[in-house]
Amino acid sequence: MNYKIFENVDKYIERLLIPQDEALLKAEESLVTENIPLISVSPNQGKLLQILAMSCNAKRILEIGTLAGYSTIWLTRALPEDGKLITIEFDSHHAEVAKKNITRAGLEDKVTIINGKAMDVLEKMLGDKEEPFDFIFIDADKPPYTKYFQLAMRLSHKGTIIIADNVIRDGEILDENSSDEKVIGVQRFNKFLSDCKEVNATILQTVGVKEYDGMAIAVVK
Ligand SMILES: C[S@@+](CC[C@H](N)C(=O)[O-])C[C@H]1O[C@@H](n2cnc3c(N)ncnc32)[C@H](O)[C@@H]1O
Repeated sequence: MNYKIFENVDKYIERLLIPQDEALLKAEESLVTENIPLISVSPNQGKLLQILAMSCNAKRILEIGTLAGYSTIWLTRALPEDGKLITIEFDSHHAEVAKKNITRAGLEDKVTIINGKAMDVLEKMLGDKEEPFDFIFIDADKPPYTKYFQLAMRLSHKGTIIIADNVIRDGEILDENSSDEKVIGVQRFNKFLSDCKEVNATILQTVGVKEYDGMAIAVVK
């Protein structure tokens, strides 16, 4: 399939509606200069996350998978003056680069980067009786997505929006015989979502400057 049309239309939307300032552009650039995989959300997806966080008046945001802080910047900018975002990142180099990018954006007072394994950090948050979050973005390793989502639900309240990225994987989720553990992880997650009575959810297919994929969007009932 020729995806060029989706890329060109995405760029058109960017030109119209998604001006990026220096902080966002430098955060994107840092992936290349710091030799970090180019797997951040696209500008249009960053803006979508920001709009969804604003639409639920999020004051407390949790992000699982920081990379270099590109989506973190979009999301933190949705917060009011007294808002807080906690972002979890396993790789210490990614966390260091993210810290610089977040500081350059002037958002360091609102953002806490926790350098650790998402599962351990989420379990600890539950043990510490962390206040619930209004918006949660899951964007880390795919095999444990179901578990991340279950933990995220326990860190939520009625009305919390939970987003899980990369759940369509170029359509590979249709392959029931896939041996790719990322595909198997999101297939398991998508099935869990369909059976889960505690959320109202859908999956939005995403096309554009990044590969064809999808974001699960759920609201806790
Ligand atoms: C897709 S990237 C996140 C992209 C970022 N949200 C953005 O759009 O700018 C996934 C990140 O999750 C991190 N990661 C992978 N497994 C993890 C784990 N078990 N715990 C915490 N972070 C993890 C990776 O090191 C990587 O930086």
